[in-house]
Amino acid sequence: MEYHNPVLLKESVDGLNIKPDGIYVDVTFGGGGHSKEILSRLGPNGKLFAFDQDEDALANALDDERFVLINENFRFIKRFLRFYGVKSVDGILGDLGVSSHQFDVAERGFSTRFDAELDMRMSQKNDLNANRVVNEYDEANLKRVFLDYGELKNAPVLARTIVQAREERPITTTDDLKEVLAKFLPERVRNKILAQIYQAIRIEVNQEMDVLKEFLEQSLEILNKGGRLSVISYHSLEDRLVKRFMKNGMFEGEPERDFFGNFSVPFKTVGKLIVPNNEEIKLNNRARSAKLRIAEKI
Ligand SMILES: C[S@@+](CC[C@H](N)C(=O)[O-])C[C@H]1O[C@@H](n2cnc3c(N)ncnc32)[C@H](O)[C@@H]1O
Repeated sequence: MEYHNPVLLKESVDGLNIKPDGIYVDVTFGGGGHSKEILSRLGPNGKLFAFDQDEDALANALDDERFVLINENFRFIKRFLRFYGVKSVDGILGDLGVSSHQFDVAERGFSTRFDAELDMRMSQKNDLNANRVVNEYDEANLKRVFLDYGELKNAPVLARTIVQAREERPITTTDDLKEVLAKFLPERVRNKILAQIYQAIRIEVNQEMDVLKEFLEQSLEILNKGGRLSVISYHSLEDRLVKRFMKNGMFEGEPERDFFGNFSVPFKTVGKLIVPNNEEIKLNNRARSAKLRIAEKI
């Protein structure tokens, strides 16, 4: 089985505007599709650092002396690059979310297609997993997760149902969870709602929103002037953060005005939002929700 089929490959790497001698970072290495493309555009003195917090991705490491793969969370991008003596870079690419590999291996627990233990950790070192969220979070916290990350209107009743059911016995597998929530999963919208529930738990387990914010803030700090940030996101919560940060350099509110009354912003956006064309979606269904945004540090 293929590890991962890269999405918006050409468009996202074009967005980096690669200088052959530059230093680049691919923060979501996965199967290495984007990294290979970046390396193909670098000269002998270029350099590529890649991150992936999933140990499974290490098997895909590329044998190239211009390449370093770091098995860490990209929320620590600045710290780990500093470890390699790198204080600033020319471009950063992020292809957020999970890989096809993570999704297709039943035991990882990311997919509602299989009956597996509740897990959903992208990193095997993570203490928090889906089992702990479902069985240990109090009702208010579960409600927050379903509301904020799943945008589920019936979050309060979902949370209450889980808390009541686990008093009888722990909810440990996908099928347990489906059974407990069965009455909220009418056939017609079953897959959609399950996907929202799973998305919510996954975002919580991997702290995806906080991680993304920390990463974006550090990216701004380490990019050289003229350096590019190219980010592919797969759901609206991520895309909203990326869009606001690229536009304003912040996640909430409006940036300050300069002496002339113009907004003082750290990036200029490059082009418009890019989404995969029908051809790509036909060949790779997982591309269907992808949104690519590109910005250049001013
Ligand atoms: C959509 S896949 C990337 C696929 C890759 N671009 C390719 O072409 O094969 C996302 C990858 O990023 C990793 N990842 C997601 N969030 C991460 C984080 N915060 N830190 C490090 N790796 C992360 C996942 O483990 C997964 O392997």
